[in-house]
Amino acid sequence: MDIIHFVADLRARLQREPNNVFVPTMGNLHEGHIQLIDIAKPRAACTVVSIFVNRLQFGPQEDFDRYPRTFEADCKRLRDAGVNVVFAPDEKEIYPEPQTFLVEPSDLQHILDGAARPGHFRGVATVVLKLFNMVSPHSAIFGKKDYQQYIVLRDMVRQFALPIEIIPAETVRAPDGLALSSRNGYLSAEERIEAPRLYRTLREAQAEIMAGACDFQRIELHGMSQLADNGWRPDYVTVRRQADLQKPAPGDRELVVLAAARLGKTRLIDNVEVNLEP
Ligand code: PAJ
Repeated sequence: MDIIHFVADLRARLQREPNNVFVPTMGNLHEGHIQLIDIAKPRAACTVVSIFVNRLQFGPQEDFDRYPRTFEADCKRLRDAGVNVVFAPDEKEIYPEPQTFLVEPSDLQHILDGAARPGHFRGVATVVLKLFNMVSPHSAIFGKKDYQQYIVLRDMVRQFALPIEIIPAETVRAPDGLALSSRNGYLSAEERIEAPRLYRTLREAQAEIMAGACDFQRIELHGMSQLADNGWRPDYVTVRRQADLQKPAPGDRELVVLAAARLGKTRLIDNVEVNLEP
């Protein structure tokens, strides 16, 4: 496994291996990330993983400074997972000058997580486009855990006609249902016990919709109050269409229930898809 810090070295290394698949990450790797690598590996001769905590996608009050950085442990996991190339640039390498050209996603960037995190998806889209230009993969894998991020990047690739296939991966969970996330490490022992309620709330909403309920506003309010009653500060619990994350129209069958809520100082997000039979 080659660990590369500079774009020029990355390009030189990948010139020998144009058939590559890419998994961008911010490090502090867990089983969710490893699953993306397992999906990537059979698709190309060379699996490239980036580790870069992208300041551009963090708000001024957010956790950029305390975001966990565990480079040595990450490299061990990546070696064990059979990754060929790790690209771990520092900030100067990705942003040698202030990034004044930015990728401006559609209005999708302003709803849901974008409403709570202004500028977040602009920062994500900008760094992912830069990383795509550095790695030139034919495919890239993204987790559905960050559903809105996946939709924004899928749309970016389509609209800019990038020759890259975006492949979504299912959310990996702890045995109690909590979606794995680097931010779970911020939870106290007590909060960690409470945290799976987010997924339980989503599963209840999913079950109600599967059973034929279509009063989505009631389902959303019920989910929000279930969280609030147990000490959470919910940003949203909402039923949307998978395709564009807009409110469902009558007859829409491919739905997703998304939630974001704060537990103590930690903001958690999760979602479950609901596929209704025709
Ligand atoms: P990060 O949070 O490190 O996530 C990297 C990739 O892992 C993303 O595609 C994310 O959706 C996926 N992932 C995280 N937890 C997962 C889980 N429990 N199950 C399945 N997949 C999971 O997302 C980012 O980094 C950044 O925004 C990035 C795209 C790298 C741009 O900076």
